[in-house]
Amino acid sequence: MSVVSIDKSLCTGCGQCVRDCPARNLSLLGGVARVAGGQCIECGHCFAVCPAGAVSMAGYELAGLEKTASMSEFGPERLLLAMQSRRSVRRFTGEAVSEADLARILEAGRCCPTACNAQDVHFIVLQKRIAEAEAAAVRLFRRAGKLAVLIKTLPKSVPDNFFFMGAPLAIVCASANETDAALAAAYMELCAESLGLGGFYCGYFCAAARLSGELRDIISLPDGLKPAVTLVLGHPDVKYLRRAPRRPADITRL
Ligand SMILES: Cc1cc2nc3c(=O)[nH]c(=O)nc-3n(C[C@H](O)[C@H](O)[C@H](O)COP(=O)(O)O)c2cc1C
Repeated sequence: MSVVSIDKSLCTGCGQCVRDCPARNLSLLGGVARVAGGQCIECGHCFAVCPAGAVSMAGYELAGLEKTASMSEFGPERLLLAMQSRRSVRRFTGEAVSEADLARILEAGRCCPTACNAQDVHFIVLQKRIAEAEAAAVRLFRRAGKLAVLIKTLPKSVPDNFFFMGAPLAIVCASANETDAALAAAYMELCAESLGLGGFYCGYFCAAARLSGELRDIISLPDGLKPAVTLVLGHPDVKYLRRAPRRPADITRL
């Protein structure tokens, strides 16, 4: 059964919801929209597009969603310049990330698109147990030998702060769908930058979590989820004065 319902007394029959539904879950009958019984993916487009406010979605908080904004408000030059200026930050002041900032960052991850609107990213917020998790990952990497074959760029000596570099916060984005997790992490990183925070993606920590059951236990990774991206965050103790050079984009145009 679809979570979507239409208030017939409010529906004007404009058909916006029918045209916008990617799952063909809605149709017009007698000038009123109705749920036709397709595979609703709960994307909320019908709710978001309805000019009459006639759509409800069971199980979702719908209050307070009226306010919207568009990326075009920033303008392409400002947005692109900010994206070009974003850098991985690996030097931190040690100041904690506030609860308000953390809530915003997690909200950026929550509102990210997911394939078929699965909303299937689990966020593991490492703060209290960040040192314990890093110590376990460091122990694993120091047992080098065969690992060095698996992880080709592993350095010869692994310092105590190898994974999180003194940052107060790391968020492991875990999902059965690694693409969903990676996109959520990218949204969160941009949000963190807008808050004046900085950080980097720690691929090494995800590699360690894939290799170590002990580490997966420490971070309480639910069964069936892959640790796809670890976003390490804190207050930057570095300022970049110019953008970093990049090779030309590798593009095929057809
Ligand atoms: C998937 C992924 C994994 C990464 N893993 C690490 C890592 O384990 N440690 C690290 O210091 N940086 C890591 N980085 C950061 C990259 O080294 C960095 O993005 C790259 O050098 C470009 O620098 P910039 O982010 O400042 O543009 C990772 C980046 C990505 C996208």
